[in-house]
Amino acid sequence: MASSDRPTAAISHVYRGTFIHSTQETAVQILENALLGVDTDGKIAFVEKGEDLDRLSSMFGFSPSEVTQLTQHEFFMPGMVDTHIHASQYSYAGTALDMPLLKWLNTYTFPVEYHFKDLEFANKVYTQVVKRTLRNGTTTACYFATIHTDASLLLGQIANDFGQRALVGKVCMDRNNAVKHYKETIQESQEETCRFIAELLNKKYPLVKPVVTPRFAPSCTGALLGQLGAIAKNNHLHIQSHISENVEEVKLVKELFPDSESYADVYHKYNLLTDKTVMAHGCYLSDKELDLFRETGASLSHCPNSNISLCSGMLDVRNVLNHKVKLGLGTDVAGGYSASMLDAVRRALDSSKVLTIQNPDYDTLNFEEVFRLATLGGSQALSLDDQIGNFEVGKDFDALRVNVAAPGAPIDVFQCEEPKILLERFLNLGDDRNIVEVFVAGRKVAPFTEPTE
Ligand code: GUN
Ligand code: FE
Repeated sequence: MASSDRPTAAISHVYRGTFIHSTQETAVQILENALLGVDTDGKIAFVEKGEDLDRLSSMFGFSPSEVTQLTQHEFFMPGMVDTHIHASQYSYAGTALDMPLLKWLNTYTFPVEYHFKDLEFANKVYTQVVKRTLRNGTTTACYFATIHTDASLLLGQIANDFGQRALVGKVCMDRNNAVKHYKETIQESQEETCRFIAELLNKKYPLVKPVVTPRFAPSCTGALLGQLGAIAKNNHLHIQSHISENVEEVKLVKELFPDSESYADVYHKYNLLTDKTVMAHGCYLSDKELDLFRETGASLSHCPNSNISLCSGMLDVRNVLNHKVKLGLGTDVAGGYSASMLDAVRRALDSSKVLTIQNPDYDTLNFEEVFRLATLGGSQALSLDDQIGNFEVGKDFDALRVNVAAPGAPIDVFQCEEPKILLERFLNLGDDRNIVEVFVAGRKVAPFTEPTE
């Protein structure tokens, strides 16, 4: 436990009870009867033992009577980080899972995304996806929008209005023969990306930032990939895309980029693998490609629901971790049918168990490790771990207040159970009814107060 030497901002809230989070060394660290103070900037001012209440209250200038006490079945955990979600595809989530990736994109995805030129439709879908993910505990989301700049800007505005931390990407694609108007010229893609970045940054939203978003190598010419790499570099921006999700896709990339040694090499050649890059999937990456990820600092987003739903492949998470590649979890709506990160946690565990069925010597992931992937791992994958991911002093207070025994929720608790058991039950059985409050940068963002016009 630690506290900063000298308080800077005033304390706005103090909570007392159980806090569960991950550190670099420990997948699940449990702090019982702890006191956590949040300052008026939304940052964690102290995390200390409950017995130190009197000392802390005089040091930080709050009254012990203002402390919020958690109940027996409650705990705080860090907000979850969805490292890969297509906000536009939320409009058809839970349907259209009967085709492999490339056919699925041409048949369902591109025609739907094309409709986001209609701002009214975009407004409806984007409002719902932000609300749905927030109330399910996604405090940070890394979003793909569509190729439409104004609708993508609207997604940024909606995330800001509801108080969600977000990276928002206007999708770039100058190659697509399946849906006639759903592509850009290289010049449009480059100019609109620059306009998107400039206009979003100009809004000065504290928690919402642009991310350079080439859809994936098959949708982009090498020339466009090169321009996007340069834009990201010159503006120090995040980058997101897809890599090695499905066998047919990997084969197509070989045909389209015959001069590149591997799929990862295509992106590397165009300066798209950086320490602010997150690539979804990576099921078929070689060890050499994983080494390239580690060397460049690029990360992977593991999207197990999508990998199963589109019959794409199985990511060997243990091998990724052994290569020391940064890794988070993603829902990949709508290739993944659920927008909830709790689903991503469960599918990640299931997938690891399937690998164990196939090879009994496989080093199966445990729930503690997957909890870390959903929180601290995600923050690392998005290079935001200096701001979020766990309850370290100085980080923003992005947190979920979980009540495992919340009335009407799907968990029956029969006795007083230890915190680690409560966490395990929540991860395996819980849903949004157990997430009684959601905080981003110290501000309560769920249950909602609808943003004012
Ligand atoms: N690869 C390129 N675009 C997409 C997409 O929208 N979803 C998934 N799952 N993979 C992709
Ligand atoms: Fe995706």
